[in-house]
Amino acid sequence: MTETEANIIDRPHLCLVPPRAERFDDMAKPKGIFMAEALKAGEGKQLSVRGLTHSYGGQNAISDISFEVEAGEIVALLGPSGCGKSTVLRAIAGLIQPRSGAVQLGGQNLANVSARSRGIGMVFQNYALFPHLTVAENIAYPLACQHMPRVERRERVEEMLSLVQLKSYGNRLPRELSGGQQQRVAVARAIAGRPSLLLLDEPFGALDRALRFDLQVELLHLQKTLGITTLIVTHDQEEAQSLAGRLVLMNKGNVEQIDTPMAVYDRPKTLFVNTFIGQANVLHGTVERLDAEATTVALPNGNTVVLPRRLNFTVGSKVTITFRPEDVRLSTNPSDFALPARLTVSVPLGPTLVHDLVLSDGTGLRASQVRGPYTFIPEPGAQLFAEIDTLRCHAFPSDPETSRE
Ligand SMILES: Nc1ncnc2c1ncn2[C@@H]1O[C@H](COP(=O)(O)OP(=O)(O)OP(=O)(O)O)[C@@H](O)[C@H]1O
Ligand SMILES: [Mg+2]
Repeated sequence: MTETEANIIDRPHLCLVPPRAERFDDMAKPKGIFMAEALKAGEGKQLSVRGLTHSYGGQNAISDISFEVEAGEIVALLGPSGCGKSTVLRAIAGLIQPRSGAVQLGGQNLANVSARSRGIGMVFQNYALFPHLTVAENIAYPLACQHMPRVERRERVEEMLSLVQLKSYGNRLPRELSGGQQQRVAVARAIAGRPSLLLLDEPFGALDRALRFDLQVELLHLQKTLGITTLIVTHDQEEAQSLAGRLVLMNKGNVEQIDTPMAVYDRPKTLFVNTFIGQANVLHGTVERLDAEATTVALPNGNTVVLPRRLNFTVGSKVTITFRPEDVRLSTNPSDFALPARLTVSVPLGPTLVHDLVLSDGTGLRASQVRGPYTFIPEPGAQLFAEIDTLRCHAFPSDPETSRE
């Protein structure tokens, strides 16, 4: 358990729930109303993060982070371990005081609003359920913090247990639950106070693939019916793409791109984004020739790749060309623009066949194709020719500091 999470347990004033006022005015709704409908009162608010910067002990963890999550939208914060995702969440939740920058929720600046008064529900990286409290007590905890009367609290806990399909589990302790069930309790606890914003920090991190998928579907359904603005942190790109309408791609404490999953895959703005999302082949070369509608790039092994557009480089610039495995077509016959490559191994992965190859200078190359019943599978060691779909290639300056296309 991290220090922050321990703090939440030891210091109930930090419990991440909205203040009681204005939140429970729907309790008078007629009984029998569909539960999610009844819960809609805590509808999401727009989140705006501007120029968030924070350092731990003089070391910058996040720098000038800005993004928005529209009311009711679900956005994923995605990036490698240590890039600052949890730090962004902690700053939004009010668990750390950022060095600079502003967080607004529904147009209100949260700078002087305490963590418990922000109307934010949070699921921590390892659920952080209170081990000595039962499931029901865990869910009731934030409600007790906001002084909800006992009867209402009991009703709300029942509602939540039913919503996350754990109706008969109220009296169990967290250690008597499976990982997936604990995860659902953590979500129930986070949404029990009807937050306007839900922050999820790698909520499925410890779960196996099948369970992850089931819970992702459940969460998506819950989020959509409740309309809670949601920011989910993950370093799993598939999870991000399946849950979120937009992705915020972070690297080394900075935002590199904010876009839809498809745009991030098809039109990556930086080499990092290109190689982090999906698989990418990377070739280093030098701009040899610039024509009105073509750029010729020479590879170290003497081959050339001709891109069908004029790039914004000068002759002699070092460039990095990238392309997806599905944009490589293999042939046993040479052709003008195909790169000679030797096959190392072909691996069937469900409906696709993945081929690993090496170019003559030792550079690795990956190609993939949809597998049919009569697909020819070449032998390892075979001399093949790789034709790249140059329309779908990206090119970045080789200097990583300026690696924008
Ligand atoms: N309490 C702390 N004290 C000092 N450094 C910290 C602290 N918390 C985080 N850091 C550092 O700040 C950076 C960002 O950490 P953060 O936890 O935000 O990353 P993350 O993207 O959430 O990583 P992960 O995917 O592994 O959870 C890391 O270099 C980390 O070592
Ligand atoms: Mg983290």
